[in-house]
Amino acid sequence: MNKSNFSRRRVLQAASSLAGFGLLGPALAAAPKRILILGGTGFLGPAIVEVAKSRGHTLTLFNRGKTRPGLFPDIEKRQGDRDPLKGEGLKSLATGEWDAVIDDSGYYPRMVGASAQLLAPRVKQYLYISSISCYKEPSPINGDEDAPLAVLADPNVEDMGKNFANYGGLKAACEAAAEAALPGRTTIVRPGYIVGPDDPTGRFTYWPVRFDKGGEVAVPGAPSDPFQVIDVRDLAAWLVLAVETGTTGRFNALGPDKPMNWGRVISACQKAAKASSTLAWIPGEFIAKQDDIEFPIWAPYLGDTKGFHTWQNQRAVQAGMRFRPIEQTVADTLAWYQGQLKVEKGRTKLAFTAEQEADVLKRWKDANQAKAG
Ligand SMILES: NC(=O)c1ccc[n+]([C@@H]2O[C@H](COP(=O)([O-])OP(=O)(O)OC[C@H]3O[C@@H](n4cnc5c(N)ncnc54)[C@H](OP(=O)(O)O)[C@@H]3O)[C@@H](O)[C@H]2O)c1
Repeated sequence: MNKSNFSRRRVLQAASSLAGFGLLGPALAAAPKRILILGGTGFLGPAIVEVAKSRGHTLTLFNRGKTRPGLFPDIEKRQGDRDPLKGEGLKSLATGEWDAVIDDSGYYPRMVGASAQLLAPRVKQYLYISSISCYKEPSPINGDEDAPLAVLADPNVEDMGKNFANYGGLKAACEAAAEAALPGRTTIVRPGYIVGPDDPTGRFTYWPVRFDKGGEVAVPGAPSDPFQVIDVRDLAAWLVLAVETGTTGRFNALGPDKPMNWGRVISACQKAAKASSTLAWIPGEFIAKQDDIEFPIWAPYLGDTKGFHTWQNQRAVQAGMRFRPIEQTVADTLAWYQGQLKVEKGRTKLAFTAEQEADVLKRWKDANQAKAG
């Protein structure tokens, strides 16, 4: 099988349970929409494409043609760059009308503003994929969509900065650029960590894969720590629903609908694994003091990161967002990772190494021994 066939099958598998999940139902949408995706071939984009296609909508993808160019040969593509100053820029979008634009590749306000202004006369709705990082740090406990936003020290900055320090402020500025171009016609979507099959980041994926190996697993924090993520398939399904219903406004997009704790995620990983494991819980207080150790996705439930996994999501839930059980996300992510490893070695690099795990375990055991001695 060649790589592009595999990529296509992999994406189809990743999206396969969308229609059956019940949010949108298996039937075609009553009124098919014309949807333009700015991006579309990374992680969230393909999940949106699959669900939109299954609902009978017509799609156009705009991107540079660099990321997985073999994907979706049957869909209209327009080539260009989000940056109007680079190459042909947005020229290929000079014509055309769409019911909705889903902008899931916007990182700089100048570029989001340019596409939003260009398209405003020819689209009804502009959905901008922002991030939960758009809020001012530290995250409040149980914050909602009215929490204060991050503000850039230099509003013209066009790099992410050290440790991605500008990412949140840039996302907030991008939201404002979209809203200014299409007042009352924007849907601002603020996802937490997007996870599930096809995730290229290796952050959430680390956990099911690590447990599958078995043995003593270093686990940060406590089972009662709150935990929030969103399965890419649930986010994609809601975005398509928001297009179908013309939903506008600002929405945190992360689940589940009832509070979930980290212990449930760990149990789900143990259940999905072929090997058995023992848990070495390392308290959040200890981890927070290790400046060079950062476990993927989990954050210490204390100090400045205490609110990190406690965002409210009622607005999105009321607007139809639904979440599959974390057990399903864990099992599907593990199955996908094992399948893709054979063909696409290295696209998804796990975000924590065996060496890092051994190192933190040793530090914790040494600290305990020192205390006992
Ligand atoms: N992953 C998370 O946990 C997470 C959490 C919160 C929010 N988000 C947000 O979710 C969004 C989804 O990201 P995704 O990567 O999954 O989206 P995607 O649409 O699946 O992939 C990114 C797309 O953007 C295109 N692209 C990149 N640079 C471009 C440029 N300069 N001009 C034109 N097209 C360009 C890529 O194609 P080419 O390379 O071929 O151009 C690709 O098609 C992002 O806005 C991100 O900030 C992600």
